[in-house]
Amino acid sequence: MAVQHLRLDGDPVLREAAAPVVQFDASLTALIADLFATMYAAKGRGLAAPQVGVSQRVFVIDTTWKDAAPHPVAFVNPEIIAAASVLRQGPEGCLSIPDRTFNVLRPVWVDLGWTSPAGIGQTARFDGISAVCVCHELDHLNGVLITDSGTEI
Ligand code: NI
Repeated sequence: MAVQHLRLDGDPVLREAAAPVVQFDASLTALIADLFATMYAAKGRGLAAPQVGVSQRVFVIDTTWKDAAPHPVAFVNPEIIAAASVLRQGPEGCLSIPDRTFNVLRPVWVDLGWTSPAGIGQTARFDGISAVCVCHELDHLNGVLITDSGTEI
C-alpha cells in the first residue's frame, strides 16, 4: 500500500471517461489499497482512481473516519440505479482542486449498484454526506469535476 501522487485539475486524466474493471485480480487489490492510503494521507473522505492517474471505474470513500470510527468502502464499476428528485446544495472540496470550495446541487439520496473488490454485486441507498460523496466520486469516473456544475464559495 503506497501513497500515490495526486493528479490536479488540468491533468487530462481527470477529464477521461474511466474504463470498466474487467479483472478482479491483484492489481485491483493494490489499486484500492493505494487509493485508501492516498485518501487518508491527504485527509479526504473519498478518492477516485483517475485522481491517482488510473482511468478505471473504481473509487473509495470513508465518510466517518475524521469524526468517528473508520468505515472504508471500495466501489468497482458503480452505477446509480435511482436518485431522489429532491436536490440539496452543499459545500464540497476535492483533493484535485486544493483550497477551493464549491456549492454543488446533489440528490438527497441515491441507490447505487456496484461490485465489491471480491467481485460480489452490491446495492445500497446512500443519503446525507454519503450521497454527496458517492455522487462526487462517481462524477470523477465520468470526467466531471465540481468546477463544472458548482458555484465557488
Ligand atoms: Ni474530488
